[in-house]
Amino acid sequence: MGQRSYAKRIGVTGGAGFIGSNLLLHLVPRYPDYLFVNIDCLTYAGNLMNLESIESKDNYCFEKIDIRQFETLLECFDRHDLTGVIHLAAESHVDRSITGPSAFVSTNINGTFNLLELARGRMDRGFRFHHVSTDEVYGSLGETGYFTEQSPYRPNSPYSASKAAGDHLVRAYHETYGLDVVTTNCSNNYGPYQFPEKLIPLMIRNARAGLKLPVYGDGRNVRDWLHVQDHCEAIDLVFHEGSKGGSYNIGGHNEITNLELVQRICAILTDRLGTEPLDRLITFVEDRPGHDRRYAIDASYIQRELGWKPRYTFADGLAQTVQWYLDHTNWMERCVSGDYSKYYDRMYADRREMT
Ligand SMILES: NC(=O)c1ccc[n+]([C@@H]2O[C@H](COP(=O)([O-])OP(=O)(O)OC[C@H]3O[C@@H](n4cnc5c(N)ncnc54)[C@H](O)[C@@H]3O)[C@@H](O)[C@H]2O)c1
Repeated sequence: MGQRSYAKRIGVTGGAGFIGSNLLLHLVPRYPDYLFVNIDCLTYAGNLMNLESIESKDNYCFEKIDIRQFETLLECFDRHDLTGVIHLAAESHVDRSITGPSAFVSTNINGTFNLLELARGRMDRGFRFHHVSTDEVYGSLGETGYFTEQSPYRPNSPYSASKAAGDHLVRAYHETYGLDVVTTNCSNNYGPYQFPEKLIPLMIRNARAGLKLPVYGDGRNVRDWLHVQDHCEAIDLVFHEGSKGGSYNIGGHNEITNLELVQRICAILTDRLGTEPLDRLITFVEDRPGHDRRYAIDASYIQRELGWKPRYTFADGLAQTVQWYLDHTNWMERCVSGDYSKYYDRMYADRREMT
């Protein structure tokens, strides 16, 4: 029996992470004529349980590969004859980058370099490289103003510096070799399947359990939130229609202080659970070093050029997200206990025995 032919064969790195798994859940059913190869080494942040619903689809497969290992990546690119990559794999947690920056440098810089080299070898096949990056590369804003695609890069944490380095390499491969690249710089995402070390799921879990809700510094740091599904739709659009070498800022115009965000989560939970007001659990803790004060994205370019705009209002998206975590306490507890990491062994044991 001949191999099925696909219109495109796309590697999605970091597909088992928060945004990657939401992206695959969006893309796999939407493009049945494409093959999606999830390339992920399953760090603590990779969770294949998120992808249970698409696991048996013909146009999806998983490859447990570390993007720092060039030879293994090369073999995977060749075997699947990839025609493009959407690159999300990264070490992504700012606090971890402060205590252990090394993995951030090796994955976010060297890993990106490996992928760019492989893409460069496939330019004759019209290979497209989509680099998924963050607004944190621009550093911190004052009380006013927005990050545009022209804002200077001023990263302040090892995480944002390593992402900025990746962005620069991507740009250089376009300018130097003519590689077909697109870069997206997005604001903070929220929504289902986010690992419970990150602000929103952490607060929901702690509040339910009656634990303290730790807020950094005075809680007045401002973040610009976007629902992960809106981000996934923007990635889909830019991957297909973004101009070669283009950079696109993505954000939802939902600026809110961390303190107000936690208060809003508490209000929703108090209402849904019928408890005493949960904001009494808020506790201020020592600020994170180099903590950026304010991020805010000007997303008018992607809106103008590609017609993208977010579907979710922050109020609806946050209420839906809080409810999702309330409905998925088992998922959350399996993340916290580490049980999720056994999923790969259970599901892919046969394959490992064969190889
Ligand atoms: N979460 C956000 O708010 C946000 C906002 C803007 C941009 N981003 C960017 O989007 C991307 C995804 O973010 P996320 O929040 O889903 O991250 P995440 O930490 O939830 O997931 C990262 C994924 O990458 C995988 N990974 C890490 N190192 C790897 C390696 N060496 N080889 C192969 N796989 C590896 C992990 O196993 C995990 O599945 C990142 O590049 C991040 O910088 C995130």
